[in-house]
Amino acid sequence: MVRDGDVAVIRIDEPPVNAATDAVCAGLAAALDAFEADAASRAAVILCGGKGFIAGADIKAMDAVPDAPPLPDLIDRIEALDKPILAAIHGPALGGGLELALACHGRIAGADARFGLPEVKLGLIPGAGGTQRLPRLAGIGITIDLAVDGREIDAATALSVGLIDAIAEGPLREAAIAHARTLAGQPPRRTRELPMPADGHALVEAAAPKVAKKARGRRAPLLALDAIRFGLDHPFDEALANEKAVAIAALRSEESRALRHLFLAERRVRRDAADAPTRTIATVGVVGLGTMGRGIVQALAAAGVETIAVARGDASLARAQAAVEKAWAKPGNTRAAALVRWSSDLAALADADLVIESIGEAMVDKTALFAALGGIAKPGAILASNTSYLDIDALAAASGRAADVAGLHFFNPAQVMRLVEVVAGAATAPDVVATLMGFARRIGKIAILSGVCDGFVVNRLLAKRSREAYFLLEEGASPYAVDRVIAGFGFPMGPFALGDLAGIDVQRAARIARADRLSPRERRADFVDQLFAAGRLGRRAGKGWYAYGEDGRPAPDPEIESLVSAHGARHGVARRAIGEDEIRDRLILAMVNEGAKLIDEGIVAGPDAIDIALVHGIGFPAHLGGPMWWADRQGLTGVATTVTRFAAEQGDEYWQPAAGLLDRAATNRTFY
Ligand code: COA
Repeated sequence: MVRDGDVAVIRIDEPPVNAATDAVCAGLAAALDAFEADAASRAAVILCGGKGFIAGADIKAMDAVPDAPPLPDLIDRIEALDKPILAAIHGPALGGGLELALACHGRIAGADARFGLPEVKLGLIPGAGGTQRLPRLAGIGITIDLAVDGREIDAATALSVGLIDAIAEGPLREAAIAHARTLAGQPPRRTRELPMPADGHALVEAAAPKVAKKARGRRAPLLALDAIRFGLDHPFDEALANEKAVAIAALRSEESRALRHLFLAERRVRRDAADAPTRTIATVGVVGLGTMGRGIVQALAAAGVETIAVARGDASLARAQAAVEKAWAKPGNTRAAALVRWSSDLAALADADLVIESIGEAMVDKTALFAALGGIAKPGAILASNTSYLDIDALAAASGRAADVAGLHFFNPAQVMRLVEVVAGAATAPDVVATLMGFARRIGKIAILSGVCDGFVVNRLLAKRSREAYFLLEEGASPYAVDRVIAGFGFPMGPFALGDLAGIDVQRAARIARADRLSPRERRADFVDQLFAAGRLGRRAGKGWYAYGEDGRPAPDPEIESLVSAHGARHGVARRAIGEDEIRDRLILAMVNEGAKLIDEGIVAGPDAIDIALVHGIGFPAHLGGPMWWADRQGLTGVATTVTRFAAEQGDEYWQPAAGLLDRAATNRTFY
């Protein structure tokens, strides 16, 4: 604490994000002691150094018992002070940071401030008064937005709803001290003494069904809503105690452990290859403007990157340009046309620091293009392929400058999906890998690093899941039962609904492309070909695995049930009743076992990359932490036993247990 005239200034400076570590709590307690004891201080300001206000509880220490006064007690103490204390907020004020500000007797913010209660995203609920003080200041609607839905608001919104008293004009510290001086001598305005809003029940009950529907197996959003509701019917202290008890219980939940694991894993995977120097990327070329290429152009432009979009021929260029313009015209999409230069001439890519190839998945076309790009691109420019499964090393060789070549694999729709796989080839230069990892982050993506293999991380695991799904149909399962189990597991949709979304025609093309690598059994499970022949091309066609009504809703179709059973009869496959546990294990463990192989083969640096890729690439339920985390929590001994049993039942060819799985199970180790 230092004093500025009659105002005490308490400054928290705990890089990188001012988390409420034990040290911060202890320092704050001491500063409050000093403020209380100092008769010359008539008011106080709490502010932070660095990029933002307090970013909440210390995520890295949540499993440990704190040895300093825990944050909730400090927050109550702040509110109870006899002299006014003001929070001066810049940058993010999150979780316990916002809760601390709510308990101050006034709040002033910089224009860059943002406010959130992201605990739900970590499987937690606010545990230091957030569900009780925020409604009193800013209303129930905002509290549901922040505490239940995990949204953030900016300074202007915070001011308009009463969360803050003022936005500082000029430097925040000076404005805060001046503001605190106006409060000096006045009785502190305690948030707890304000009434709960009168419309509380109506808003909570209106939100409840939506929250339940969106939760998909997660408990925290429902718990947060319950805590808000409890506060409407109970005195402040009781509601605060309830909130704290629920928060502590949530901290011990599997959901919270898994979500905190992902938070930290997402930050760990950034460090893969981060030691190398990077190249400067100012202008990016995209060549090939089909669905993926257009999505990539949108993603780049939305992130403010100068983009050169190249298609072969004026007609396809015009089509792509029109499609992107149409997407930009939709509400919520910012038009970034000024950043994009359109061309049907490959030579336009000579200006690019990075070229992203996104033409159709035909090796001959891609090698020809890489050979051309090798000559056109300027020295030092990076040549990246968006291929989903083709051999990056072959493309690198074709380019004549293999060190500059890598994979940069986006997911459809590229302007929405956050995952990007950076694929390092055998000859890729370390600075190319580091540059792509950093660049992906710059455009708002989450990048994982993969080595070269068929399908990299996501598609390699997904291919094993799809194969099991088709085998299950042959053996007697209904596609609807399979989808139900997978959706029940927490995925946004099952493999067959996903197949309809991706398009049966697209899957058929991929199947043809790998026809020579299919085993007899995979060839026999030709459901995709059968649907294609029946004109059931998926959601866009109105029917695929499902029949889609006028409203686009999928409904099970008896024709599909007969197609599946006729297939079994035609091939003389004995069909049996298959339970939900087997469906789940066959599909999920197929991915776990393949993930273990990725680690064995050194394709990924560790389990982090797999968990992050599957959660962000295909919606593996985040509250289960990703396949490798989930397997650990199930117990690897049981997982290995089941995989070994499937190998006996289904054949080694399909279920060769990963050495790393068997080994960990035998020696009582885990992936993490
Ligand atoms: N506790 C402990 N460490 C934290 C933290 C927290 N609450 N929030 C962030 N960190 C760490 C990160 O792990 C990362 O560490 P690393 O450098 O070792 O990888 C570092 O701070 C920087 O965080 P990062 O997210 O990479 O920086 P950013 O500038 O992109 O974002 C925040 C900053 C604060 C917006 C973001 O980190 C965030 O949302 N944090 C979580 C806040 C939260 O959920 N609080 C409620 C906890 S109950």
